[in-house]
Amino acid sequence: MKGIVLAGGHGTRLYPVTLGISKQLLPINDKPLIYYPLSVLMLAGIREILVISTPADLPNLQRLLGDGGHLGLDIGYARQDEPVGLADAFIIGADHVGDDSVALVLGDNVFHGNAFYDLLQRNVQNVDGCVLFGYPVSDPHRYGVAETDAQGRLVSLEEKPARPRSDRAVVGLYLYDKDVVDIAKNLSPSARGELEITDVNRVYMERGKARLVDLGRGFAWMDAGTPESMLQASQYVQTLEKRQGVRIACVEEVALRMGFIDPAACHRLGEKLAPSDYGKYVCAVAEELGHRPG
Ligand code: G1P
Repeated sequence: MKGIVLAGGHGTRLYPVTLGISKQLLPINDKPLIYYPLSVLMLAGIREILVISTPADLPNLQRLLGDGGHLGLDIGYARQDEPVGLADAFIIGADHVGDDSVALVLGDNVFHGNAFYDLLQRNVQNVDGCVLFGYPVSDPHRYGVAETDAQGRLVSLEEKPARPRSDRAVVGLYLYDKDVVDIAKNLSPSARGELEITDVNRVYMERGKARLVDLGRGFAWMDAGTPESMLQASQYVQTLEKRQGVRIACVEEVALRMGFIDPAACHRLGEKLAPSDYGKYVCAVAEELGHRPG
């Protein structure tokens, strides 16, 4: 399975902050926002990843993530000149997807949950159609909204409905089979002029090939698109990290635990970051998992 991180857009809801820097490079507590969605793909075992962003922001993202080799990844980059909708990611990324299945994650989505690794592993195998993830929210009108029948079958999908049929938001992580590229290419723009991901998902639903997996209430999902939601996500991460002494979405740790890099390589990454507590943590994790200093 291939991966795409969509890190485009102008981040207008964060102006003036995002006049000078892309949203996905802003910090959520101790690390750039893009580490959170990137680590989701890594936890799913995905190593070939395309990062899509604006021409202005790509050089900075590239400076941060490079070719991904240090994390045992293969990261490529593609530009999206104008934010014409999330489904555009599959048109831009058509060559990257090829004949494979693909996971799309939005560059401003933060996920955290105890059994997330298992849930991802269960769902990325043999994707036939699409897999969506639903999450109960108090403000569903801000999101794609899914409705299921009594048997849990998906019966409707609506993008930012004025009168939501359920409280179940469709989060910014989507798994598709290879048909997604053709479906995206045949979409018409919505009333707001965008190639909507919800329209892609509706095509799968109408074919009887869309599945909704519930993330449930014991899970954290946030989209960090406004000053308030960025602060909330930072506070959530900071609270858990301080309390437990672990770090959420530490990509070096994820790479090590996934077996993408060995403890010595992880330690070297930590040394480069060592003036920060984050760097010290990376070194400590490498030592705990087998690196012997000296
Ligand atoms: C997009 C999707 C929406 C989804 C949301 C998740 O909305 O269109 O269906 O629920 O991401 O973050 P956007 O945040 O681009 O307005």
